[in-house]
Amino acid sequence: MEKLQAAIEIARKKREAERGDPPALPVTADAPSTAASDSGKMDLWYGLAEAHLDHAALVRARILSQSASRESTPFDVLRTKILYQMRQNGWRRLAITSPLPKSGKTTAAVNLALALGRQPELRSMLFDFDLRAPAVADKLGLPQPPSIAPLLRGERSFADHGRRIGLNLALALSGEAQTDPTRLLMADTTRDTLAQIQTDYAPDIMIFDLPSILIGDDARAFLQHVDCALILARADQTRYGDFDSCEREVGEYTNVLGVVLNAYRYGDGRVDAEGSA
Ligand SMILES: Nc1ncnc2c1ncn2[C@@H]1O[C@H](COP(=O)(O)OP(=O)(O)OP(=O)(O)O)[C@@H](O)[C@H]1O
Ligand SMILES: [Mg+2]
Repeated sequence: MEKLQAAIEIARKKREAERGDPPALPVTADAPSTAASDSGKMDLWYGLAEAHLDHAALVRARILSQSASRESTPFDVLRTKILYQMRQNGWRRLAITSPLPKSGKTTAAVNLALALGRQPELRSMLFDFDLRAPAVADKLGLPQPPSIAPLLRGERSFADHGRRIGLNLALALSGEAQTDPTRLLMADTTRDTLAQIQTDYAPDIMIFDLPSILIGDDARAFLQHVDCALILARADQTRYGDFDSCEREVGEYTNVLGVVLNAYRYGDGRVDAEGSA
């Protein structure tokens, strides 16, 4: 645990030093403007089918950010830090990953998306890109969605596939598990589809829930398509060496925005997520 915290601290200092360098350009260099008066874009958002959430299902899955509360505070703080860093650099695409499975990536991605959804001036999107084991719909208590593959291959429009929570949070849910996700994640059609969605819907932030880095190639294959990544480490499980390898690997492909030390146990027994974006 101390070693892990020390590794996170070193990684944070390294990132701070690197921030002295000119910011890396966004993946989509001509990122669109998001003027709230852009009524054509808002018509597209209103046209997405609305997903209705069940509060009890959310609580069961530790999804606590739908409304402002004591429980949502860690994710509200994380949201503010992330937005600040991303705006400073002109970044819009954020990946969420971890060294090994079950670190709390999807729980954090969904909570963060709902916390962003409570910012009426922002348009946010959450993509379930854990294509071997999609879990976002389940965490939100929504029925099994269709496969995301036709969307990524350009065979189905986002207008048909996307779902909306409230007026300003859109979801790209993933249904049946894909057998060859790495190929799909690296494909030019996936790159083009994301660029088209970004142009048409002008989101302020796109969050991608990815698999873990050290278990396969999927997350690595996709990192080239994002501007930055957040790494989830689990305080009670992640080993120092695994965190270190993950941080280095992610840093080879994109900017490491920060690290969240999840399930950190306070002295009084409370369990929480500590962000260092
Ligand atoms: N802060 C936390 N404290 C305790 N349990 C947590 C915390 N965050 C997540 N969990 C639980 O840990 C389990 C794994 O969480 P989650 O599915 O979000 O992880 P993941 O990293 O996305 O997993 P996978 O690698 O399978 O995609 C879930 O049962 C979730 O409820
Ligand atoms: Mg997950």
